[in-house]
Order: sequence, then structure tokens, then C-alpha cells
Amino acid sequence: MTDSAPVPPRIGVVLVAAGSGTRLGHGIPKALVPLAGRTLLEHALRGILSSGICTELVVVLPPADGQLEQVCRDVGRDTGRDIGTVRGGAERHDSVRAGLAALAPVDHVLVHDAARCLTPPAVFTRIAEALAAGATAVVPGVAVADTIKTVDPQAEAARGIPDAALVTGTPNRSGLRAIQTPQGFDAAALSAAHADAGGWSREQAMAVTDDAALMERSGHPVLVVPGDPAAFKITTALDLLLAEALLARDRTPTQEP
Ligand code: CTP
Ligand code: MG
Repeated sequence: MTDSAPVPPRIGVVLVAAGSGTRLGHGIPKALVPLAGRTLLEHALRGILSSGICTELVVVLPPADGQLEQVCRDVGRDTGRDIGTVRGGAERHDSVRAGLAALAPVDHVLVHDAARCLTPPAVFTRIAEALAAGATAVVPGVAVADTIKTVDPQAEAARGIPDAALVTGTPNRSGLRAIQTPQGFDAAALSAAHADAGGWSREQAMAVTDDAALMERSGHPVLVVPGDPAAFKITTALDLLLAEALLARDRTPTQEP
């Protein structure tokens, strides 16, 4: 028997960028919105590629958007990387499924939101390392700063008071994590979990808001590793302002003492 070097896992990234950005309200797909002179999609792509972990990359785009297609081509040319594209669906899980179907065979897959376009490369590395160490599903998470309450908006006590809901519980904050992306998985297990969910009703599908939840439902253990505050999701105008401020801070030369 000869000793051979272990074969590194093939790692695919599915970057979902097919959302419309309704809450941001720019009237264009969110991935196309400019941030410090670059589109959100370009920031997201450069972050992924600079982590150096991915062997395959597929970007899921809104139907018929030539400008985002062009961003992928430009970044691909600039970085010497092959960036695949595919059209997304009506909901995020439809887009993830389209991305998985378009990905070349890989061992591990990371699903990432283009809206988390400032995610530090170290988060990608952390997820890839946990998969290499044997995890089937691993997500980045950060501690929750707010006190979280469960509520019942239909409760009798809240009737007649505009937008009120009745508090039904206060989970212990130490047991909560706010989950980010990239979420990493054994590629075969994630594809099987998506295939299982294919026959679900719309209500069932809408209740599952991330890929890790699909894996939980399929009985797989899901690990949480430290995320990063900079991996926040740009959802509203306030988030975009924060992203602009972070990039402006990074561009400001530090004063010599
Ligand atoms: N996404 C997607 N396909 C969809 C919906 C969402 O690829 N049908 C992607 C978005 O592009 C984003 C990520 O999923 O990168 C998280 O979604 P979200 O932040 O909700 O973005 P949008 O759906 O674009 O925003 P909104 O819900 O305000 O319209
Ligand atoms: Mg959305």
C-alpha cells in the first residue's frame, strides 16, 4: 500500500442574489444596489473569492437581469475564476434549489446570501474547516443583543390595541443565536433535504427560512460556529447606511501618533 496525500474536499458556493430587495426600496434588484462604488453582488463575490475556499461558484440571479450577469463576468475576468450563473425562483428556497442543481459535483456546499455582502473571508474559512473536520451542517451565529419574546398576535388581551400582541414567553438569551450565512453542508445531504421538501405545501415551505432548518427537519445535527457582526444582512436603508459607514471607516487612513 502506498501513502497518498489526502484529497482536499471540493467545495461549492451557491450565492443567492435573486431577491427583489423590496424592503430596501431602490426599485432595482438588491444585488445591483451600489455600495461605496460597487454593487452589493460585486462585494459579495470578492469576499467569497478572497477566502480562497471555493472550487465551484454559482450565482443565482433574478430572471432576465443582464446587468448582474455582467457583474459576474467582470469579476470572473478580473479574478481569473469561472463564475456560473443560473436564474432563481419566487422564494429563497427555490433559488437555493436552482443553484444546487447548477453546481458541478462537490463534496461540501456553502449557501450564502448576496445581501450579507461584507461577510469577512474568515467566516467562510471557519465553516469550511468545520465541514472538513466532519460536520454535516454548520452555520455561523452571533449572540443576541436584544431580549427576545414569543408573542401571540391573536390573543384576546391584545384585541382593540393597534399592532399589539400578547407576550407568551421570554427564552433565556444565553441559549439563543442569530444565524447568518454562509451555511455549510455535506452536499449530498443538503440536496436530499431539498428534494424531500419539494412536495411540501406552501405553508410548510414558508416556515423553513434557512437551509439549516431543512437539515434539522431531516434529522441532521447542525453546529453553530462563531459568525461575525460584519456578516449582517442588508435588508433596509439603515443597514445600507451601516455598510457605507463600515467601508468608509476602512478607507480612512489611520493617523500616525
Ligand atoms: N433571494 C433569492 N431568491 C429569492 C428571494 C431571496 O435568491 N426569491 C436571496 C436574496 O437575493 C438575498 C437572500 O436571498 O441575497 C436573502 O433574502 P432577503 O434579504 O429577503 O432579500 P430580498 O428578498 O431581495 O429582499 P426583500 O425580502 O426585502 O424583497
Ligand atoms: Mg426576501
